[in-house]
Amino acid sequence: MTPTVIAETAKPLERALCVEGGFSLCGEVAIGGSKNASLPIIAAALLATEGQTRLIGVPHISDVEVMCDILQGLGARVRWHGDALDIDATGLYGAEVDSELGQRIRASTYLFGVLLARFGEAKVPYPGGDRIGVRPIDFHLAGLRAMGAEVSTEAGCLVGVGRLSEASIYLERPSVGATIHLMMAAALGKDSQTTTLSNAAMDPEIMDVARFLSAMGARIYGAGTSTIKVVAVRKLTGATYEVIPDRLEAGTFLMSAAASRGDITVTGVISEHLTAVIAKLQQMGVRMEVLGDSIRARVDRRLSATDVLAEEYPGFPTDLQPCIAALLVTASGDSMVTDLVWTDRFQYTDEFVRMGGQVKVVGSSVRIQGVSGLSPAEVTANDIRGGAALVLASLGAQGKSTIYGVHHLDRGYAGLIDKLMGLGARIDELEL
Ligand code: EPU
Repeated sequence: MTPTVIAETAKPLERALCVEGGFSLCGEVAIGGSKNASLPIIAAALLATEGQTRLIGVPHISDVEVMCDILQGLGARVRWHGDALDIDATGLYGAEVDSELGQRIRASTYLFGVLLARFGEAKVPYPGGDRIGVRPIDFHLAGLRAMGAEVSTEAGCLVGVGRLSEASIYLERPSVGATIHLMMAAALGKDSQTTTLSNAAMDPEIMDVARFLSAMGARIYGAGTSTIKVVAVRKLTGATYEVIPDRLEAGTFLMSAAASRGDITVTGVISEHLTAVIAKLQQMGVRMEVLGDSIRARVDRRLSATDVLAEEYPGFPTDLQPCIAALLVTASGDSMVTDLVWTDRFQYTDEFVRMGGQVKVVGSSVRIQGVSGLSPAEVTANDIRGGAALVLASLGAQGKSTIYGVHHLDRGYAGLIDKLMGLGARIDELEL
């Protein structure tokens, strides 16, 4: 197959979706690779001073495109071969991330520690990403400082210098980003220098990054538990690696069966990553079946209300909090959805109100009084998962809804609209 050269990412063209709700979605849908594992794994590929990396299953989403463009700007060679993404970082020459591109995505922060580990210097803009509340990176920086980096801020950019050394780091909270970032930065260094991360996050994406680093020759112990030990090695080599399936994409499709009273089987998933989601959907009356690497969700009646607490893995994922709220808006009874991770992640609720939802944000919770049905409306997505929640709400509302802010969905879901239409959804894309 002819390799595809990554073209410089254009600013997204704005589109709207016209979703005609009221039809049951049925069928099978294959789940792609995880966004939140792929982005740090692509960053980690820059640690290889020898050999090429081939990543299988990386989703074709705009956040990945931006990350690839950033890598190319640093001197890496990046090519798609169908579903495989090849990265050759042997000729990397730069330690300064393009400011405009770096600000577009959250995951650009990972490059700070990676470039510090590789070159002893780095300049990376403060990151962008979803507006889901205050998103500090103080744990990341405190960890890198504990490892010996001098970190300062210059004109909106983080500037770091210094060779990283060993450290024992306690994270005030089990932050996914800080755990991944510090684990990657600690992997390359003086032989046997050992970094310990305590109160680490335990998400599957962290284990995936650790497995990729190990395939490159890193020595990482305890990823997936709250204590991770990283023993540095002098050299890391490119590796071939397949990223894990996206549990959040899988959860979104399972919930689209629930939103449309349909019958959907998601294939190519790791069901253990969705334990909390499956349990919660069952509690609401969704008939769930796990069959090997597939999960089937079926609904033929109104769902029951329930309370949801979104918290760190293995708890119910914050990234599916807006989607489950979209189901609870029309469930029978009252629900309370609380988010302990992003305590302000409720911007989408204003849009539910436009559709006739009875919702009220109270502190870090949203109180929902289930209504018998939503009415179609014009609504706007403000972030990836809030956008997915609006798609689900529109699938359940009889009639045509228009969703603006679709570029947010493109950042996190590969081919979402095509996949939904393959299941029977009626969606038109409108260019604005
Ligand atoms: N926090 C700090 N200081 C830090 C880092 C985090 O106070 O230095 C706090 C945050 O404010 C938040 C909590 O700790 O309250 C957890 O944040 P975490 O660091 O775990 O989140 P993240 O790494 O910035 C990733 C995902 C998010 C996902 C969260 C939680 C990526 C690129 N992003 O963000 O995904 O919500 O973990 O699981 O991996 C999404 O995919 O839509 C998304 C937003």
